[in-house]
Amino acid sequence: MEIVTAKGLTKDYGPLRAVNNIDFEILRGECFGFLGPNGAGKTTAMSIIYCFMPPTSGKVKVFGIDVTENPGLIKSRIGVMPQEDNLDPDLTVLENLIVYARYFDILKKDSLPLAKELLEFVELSEKENVNIKSLSGGMKRRLILARSLVNNPELLILDEPTTGLDPHSRHAVWDKLNHLKAKGTTLILTTHYMEEAEKLCDRVAIMDSGRIVTIDTPSRLMNVHGGNLEAVYLKLTGRTLKE
Ligand SMILES: Nc1ncnc2c1ncn2[C@@H]1O[C@H](COP(=O)(O)OP(=O)(O)O)[C@@H](O)[C@H]1O
Ligand SMILES: [Mg+2]
Repeated sequence: MEIVTAKGLTKDYGPLRAVNNIDFEILRGECFGFLGPNGAGKTTAMSIIYCFMPPTSGKVKVFGIDVTENPGLIKSRIGVMPQEDNLDPDLTVLENLIVYARYFDILKKDSLPLAKELLEFVELSEKENVNIKSLSGGMKRRLILARSLVNNPELLILDEPTTGLDPHSRHAVWDKLNHLKAKGTTLILTTHYMEEAEKLCDRVAIMDSGRIVTIDTPSRLMNVHGGNLEAVYLKLTGRTLKE
């Protein structure tokens, strides 16, 4: 069953066509990855799914609801881990979660135990009263992951969840994402780490210059084209992911 469908999705920023007429379907319970180098249009495509901005043209439905018709209802059922760190630097770790819970009308008496439970999940309990500024990059990403789970989302959207993290922190995040997937949460992520895509994603969309070049499972792509996903990317786009 589809949880997201996009048909002819296009997004322009002024004269720039950032996403160019793409079609995709994301199934309930899968982990779907958008792969591609900087500027491919990954963040733009994701932001439209999480109703941060409307498409220029095309139709996008999440949970069967058109993103332009009832974004509020969609937002209440999804969690978002944005590419940039947007934690509140003036608040503690725990306060960041409690304040965020207010956006979802979670009662005060429920938000404290919820925040503590989420901190336990991402292994940050001992940091609950620490200021954001003293967290490492990996801890901040884990806290943002915890924050994205405040409304117990059916669909989790993760924009470069592990970019810039050391291997240990990256594995810690993968571990949590696998755990969420095992309990049935649908995951959509972007990454330019091919190893991450191979480890986590059931299917990937390979993007280049606003277009989807192909959509398939990582293993089928590697079987058909030979080599690892990095080699597949190079073969299909003529570009490396570092460009
Ligand atoms: N708010 C914006 N205004 C103008 N151009 C933008 C904006 N956001 C992204 N772009 C441009 O759109 C293209 C796609 O960007 P983006 O979706 O962020 O790609 P990715 O996430 O794959 O790096 C890039 O050329 C980028 O510079
Ligand atoms: Mg991006």
